[in-house]
Amino acid sequence: MENLNVTPWEVSGELNDAAYSKLVEKFGVDLINDNLLNRIKKIAKGKLHPLLSRNVFFAHRELNLILDDYENGKPFYLYTGRGPSGKMHIGHLLPFTFTLWLQRVFNVDLVIQLTDDEKFLIGGKQKSEIEKFTNENILDIISLGFDPKKTHIIGDYKSAKTLYYYATDVARHITVSTIKAVFGVNDSDNIGKVFFPSMQIVPAFLLSAVSKKKMRCLIPYAIDQDPYFRVARDVLPKLGYYKPSAIISKFLPALQGNSAKMSSSKEESAIFLDDSREQVRKKLMKYAFSGGRDTLEEQRKYGANPDVDFAFLEYSFLEEDQNNVEKIYQDYKSGRILSGEMKVIAAEKISDFLEKLRTNREELKDKVSEYLFDPEKLSV
Ligand code: TRP
Repeated sequence: MENLNVTPWEVSGELNDAAYSKLVEKFGVDLINDNLLNRIKKIAKGKLHPLLSRNVFFAHRELNLILDDYENGKPFYLYTGRGPSGKMHIGHLLPFTFTLWLQRVFNVDLVIQLTDDEKFLIGGKQKSEIEKFTNENILDIISLGFDPKKTHIIGDYKSAKTLYYYATDVARHITVSTIKAVFGVNDSDNIGKVFFPSMQIVPAFLLSAVSKKKMRCLIPYAIDQDPYFRVARDVLPKLGYYKPSAIISKFLPALQGNSAKMSSSKEESAIFLDDSREQVRKKLMKYAFSGGRDTLEEQRKYGANPDVDFAFLEYSFLEEDQNNVEKIYQDYKSGRILSGEMKVIAAEKISDFLEKLRTNREELKDKVSEYLFDPEKLSV
């Protein structure tokens, strides 16, 4: 835990339960308690998204104020994003299934930012490459089924004019020493890193700014993104907006386990959205981190540990019927289901999901423009 370091641009150290507790304390976020879960469940007509019921989204900032506003009939909106540094894999897409669920439950507008500029400044990739991923990633995301009327995708380069205009308002209230302290930037870093956070903060008030209606914003993100929004909560009131609220996740499980070194071959590191049924099955069989036992006898006798098992976890995030999940959990834990069988169940679930995405993706290829941020079309 000594070497635990979590910033948007660098994550190191083992992320176990203790590490998350430490981050919660250090960042000053609150855990999502049963009271909040019950309030959401009530609004969602008795259901919870698996990433919420399975405690992947586990922390928050002033989520209660969003629920208060909703219950009082006041508008709010959602904001999330993605750094388009490569092909998307299933772990990248799952948080968007959660945001989609929130959008449907609350029937609200959603801004999705693609920080192509961030990936240029920090990753060292070519612009042409990033542009290709940006376009691909947008298609991947909208193929989940977002409503084009209420979903506003904003690419930083494409919408630079609007974003930059508001980013200067933010930048004027952030000092270099804050950026150094919060993001771990040092004197040998490029100066783009110092300014960029202003760009990621803009969508947290953008809809309020363009609609000239002060609204709260709820941001789903993985905990490494917290520095941006900690700073945003400091700055936004100075600009006359609400502090953004947050619903915060742990990192999603990685195919080969969260503490495994990234495989040298990228293909083996994750299940990508364009993987065939055969590839999905093979990757699970060959690489998936297993909560099973070393031998068949031991597994029958002692059962597996589903809570660390990649196949079980992915299955549980994609299966909407929580009764089915509970049954598989018990069967796997008690040794009635073996690891190989668990992988077959998960492979099928994942492939069905991917197949549906690919069908939608084909249909949406010429419709991307309907989803892009356009201040004119804002219904709020
Ligand atoms: N910086 C994020 C990344 O690299 C992308 C992002 C932009 C984001 N805005 C966001 C993520 C809001 C979550 C919420 O992935």
